[in-house]
Amino acid sequence: MQNWLKKMTKSNLLKVTNLHATSHDGKKVLKGVDLEINKGEVIALLGPNGCGKSTLAHVISGNSKYKVDNGKITFKRKVVNSFTPEKRVKIGIALTHQHPPALKGVPLSVFLKIISKKDNDKEEMNIGSELLHREVNLDYSGGEKKISELMQILKLDPKLLILDELDSGLDIKNLKKLVGTIKKELVSKKVAILIITHSGRILDLLKPDMTCVMIDGEIYCKSKDYKKVLKTIDKYGYEKCKRCPFLAS
Ligand SMILES: Nc1ncnc2c1ncn2[C@@H]1O[C@H](COP(=O)(O)OP(=O)(O)OP(=O)(O)O)[C@@H](O)[C@H]1O
Ligand SMILES: [Mg+2]
Repeated sequence: MQNWLKKMTKSNLLKVTNLHATSHDGKKVLKGVDLEINKGEVIALLGPNGCGKSTLAHVISGNSKYKVDNGKITFKRKVVNSFTPEKRVKIGIALTHQHPPALKGVPLSVFLKIISKKDNDKEEMNIGSELLHREVNLDYSGGEKKISELMQILKLDPKLLILDELDSGLDIKNLKKLVGTIKKELVSKKVAILIITHSGRILDLLKPDMTCVMIDGEIYCKSKDYKKVLKTIDKYGYEKCKRCPFLAS
């Protein structure tokens, strides 16, 4: 098929259009977000603290703490605004949380069996085996929580994975190990990834196809060159991204 025809017929895996959302205490956080992710794409989302990155991740995955005031979330051509979080997981939307909750009394090994979508679930995981007998996220270190999050995600067989600051709290050895697992188990199978981060470390390892910058609940910059975006932010601050010099460059 010719490239222009492929482009016309290709439908986005995720399409977020003019999304406005408010937190449960009435704070307007998302103010018109547009975002498209195709199958197999790796997208980075940068932005200052409190600009709404995690809120966007929560709203896409259906967290009822947030109210969608306007806009559409389309996944695999279906508008999913009214879908429960469970239904969104079933159709392939998965999120590793920035601050995952603990599940007292539930060993991680049991939880992984409960949530697993895989028929034949006998394979050994090459990460986190030392955590299996412990209760989910209870008294885990920051890095151990991230490992546990990824172990859970691998059981969910996602089509879109949102990584909310997976890299924060991970030492470089564990970050490389987790990214290695993400590449082997997900990227190679054309799972789309949205990476929310403040640092270039995870981007150097996962090489995003596109990088976006969110400021005050809106996405401004969209660039193919994450290094240029990071350099611009470093030199001039996020405000410069409002007049994106690299729009899809
Ligand atoms: N449930 C809530 N109740 C009140 N305020 C909230 C709620 N959820 C988010 N907010 C506020 O909305 C804003 C956006 O928060 P969010 O967690 O999305 O930011 P972020 O871009 O992920 O920041 P960071 O880089 O620090 O993780 C913040 O000011 C936050 O305090
Ligand atoms: Mg956040």
